Amino acid sequence: MIARLRADIIAVKERDPACTSSFSALTNYPGLWAVWWHRLTHRLHRSGHVWLARRLSQSVRRATGIEIHPGATIGDRFFIDHGMGVVIGETTVIGDDVTIYQGVTLGGTGKEHGKRHPTLEDFAVIGVGATVLGDIRIGRGTRVGAGAVVVSEVPPNCTVVGIPGRIVVREGKRIDTIDLHHEDLPDPVVEMYRTLQRRMDRIEARLAREEDMSAEAALAPTADARRGKDDDGHPAL
Ligand SMILES: CC(C)(COP(=O)(O)OP(=O)(O)OC[C@H]1O[C@@H](n2cnc3c(N)ncnc32)[C@H](O)[C@@H]1OP(=O)(O)O)[C@@H](O)C(=O)NCCC(=O)NCCS
Repeated sequence: MIARLRADIIAVKERDPACTSSFSALTNYPGLWAVWWHRLTHRLHRSGHVWLARRLSQSVRRATGIEIHPGATIGDRFFIDHGMGVVIGETTVIGDDVTIYQGVTLGGTGKEHGKRHPTLEDFAVIGVGATVLGDIRIGRGTRVGAGAVVVSEVPPNCTVVGIPGRIVVREGKRIDTIDLHHEDLPDPVVEMYRTLQRRMDRIEARLAREEDMSAEAALAPTADARRGKDDDGHPAL
């Protein structure tokens, strides 16, 4: 347990350059207190003391501005920076080494029952003011940009921004996106023709390559010719 607490403090120091010492992490980081209290309330919740767990979590909310439902499952080294205005719903599942900032909501859409809150895989980062709604999975190492609203699954190692959240970076590569300016709305018919044109270009390039290869094969001398024999196997004159 001591090792786990120490790992939490190290996580704060590693992820917030403004944190100068373990003492500062302990005394100045409400995110750390909220996570520690959550471990207690989660245990109470699981052992059936649902009301007491909720009551305690509401007191923690008053003190820290961070509301974590006691039912939420949270992994190791979870770091909430600044904290104020964070809401984490009952069926949220958070992996290890996840970071979130102030104003983040991990909530339900209001339409689901049972598991209705997000799952954040290891090393996910959720930027300030972002909202992740519903029983969706945010992949390992994925970053949700500040202010985004994410309502559908995001694969690992992506960056998601905007409302609704769209993937702008995947596995380190920029994804081409269309700017949704009102004066410049995308035309689906033109987009379809462009896609068809791109496919035709690819097919033509492939055909040309194959034609070149068969022409080269026709011109290439046969094995018999290379051994000095004609096509019937007789010595070439
Ligand atoms: C999204 C983020 C993680 C950057 O990720 P990245 O993979 O490095 O992405 P980039 O900076 O290359 O940005 C990719 C595109 O998304 C845009 N973008 C970045 N963050 C955005 C945001 N929050 N909202 C909307 N668009 C955003 C960029 O302008 C860029 O657009 P372009 O392709 O048209 O130029 C970062 O901008 C962010 O929002 N971090 C949150 C940090 C935070 O909450 N800090 C709080 C401290 S108190």
